[in-house]
Amino acid sequence: MKHFLKETDLGPKELGEVFSLAREFKRTRGSVPGTALKGQTWAMIFAKSSTRTRVSFEVGINELGGHPLFLNTHDIQLGRGESVEDTARVLSRFVHGIVIRTFDQEQVERLAAAGSVPVINGLTDFLHPCQIYADAFTAAERWAGPKGDLLGALRGRKIAFLGDTGFNMANSWILGASLFGMRISLAGPAGYEPGTKIQALLKSEGRALDYSFTTDPSEAIQDADIVYTDVWASMGQEDEAKARVAKMRPYAVTAKLFAAAKPDALFMHCLPAHPGEEVEQAVLDNPRSIIFEEAENRLHVQKAILSVLAASRGK
Ligand code: CP
Ligand code: NVA
Repeated sequence: MKHFLKETDLGPKELGEVFSLAREFKRTRGSVPGTALKGQTWAMIFAKSSTRTRVSFEVGINELGGHPLFLNTHDIQLGRGESVEDTARVLSRFVHGIVIRTFDQEQVERLAAAGSVPVINGLTDFLHPCQIYADAFTAAERWAGPKGDLLGALRGRKIAFLGDTGFNMANSWILGASLFGMRISLAGPAGYEPGTKIQALLKSEGRALDYSFTTDPSEAIQDADIVYTDVWASMGQEDEAKARVAKMRPYAVTAKLFAAAKPDALFMHCLPAHPGEEVEQAVLDNPRSIIFEEAENRLHVQKAILSVLAASRGK
């Protein structure tokens, strides 16, 4: 049985399968009914707000013939102190899989370890692997076209990540770049550089620490094929918002800064965005901004991940 708690939980064969299935799901959506989750119920435990992740999973599970069961942590006993292990053991007797969005990556790992059904990480403070797969698929689709080699289209490309370089999206892109054979340069203020936890994960998987970090945004953006940013204050950091905005202001993706990347560079953002903070509205509106394709592809890519995980049950 497989879980998807981090980008590298799927091997090269499954990664290829996810990308080709996602392309097929996108092409045939509405004309071929899905069956991969027929008769299954998947729980969705959410401790944080969500538009894209929640809706794309609910719609995706439904389109695969399954039933999504949304569980806000405030409404279940987990929110009143029942252990994550007991929650996992109980839910495993009712449902066929679990999607979870929460704070600690460790909680997701404990849920997967104690339960007996596949678990998907729908975002933690540490990683957001569903987003990275959908993002990589979106860029690859642009570069490879409808029939080209999706994974091949990513190899050797450079992503510049600007702003909050010490949280989930930056961590996930560091791991994702290593997985997809991409180069990554991150630029953010001192004190917000990638932390020891992502370094320890790379090391434990025998991966090179081959990302570069600089406090100079114009250095990171040189030769970039993708310019990526995320909000400066993530969910759970609302109290730090003012201080973060003050420190991260030089890393805003302005039209001027975006113009310093490759002339055909793509702009990407996981959304939600704060126009006027981490990115200028003009960049969000640029024809090379593919933010809504990214959002849509969450559906197709997650349907593919769900299908691969469902097929791994009992193995
Ligand atoms: N990008 C993303 O995960 O969006 P939501 O928080 O709306 O799910
Ligand atoms: N870094 C953001 C990502 C939202 C999809 C957050 O954790 O709030």
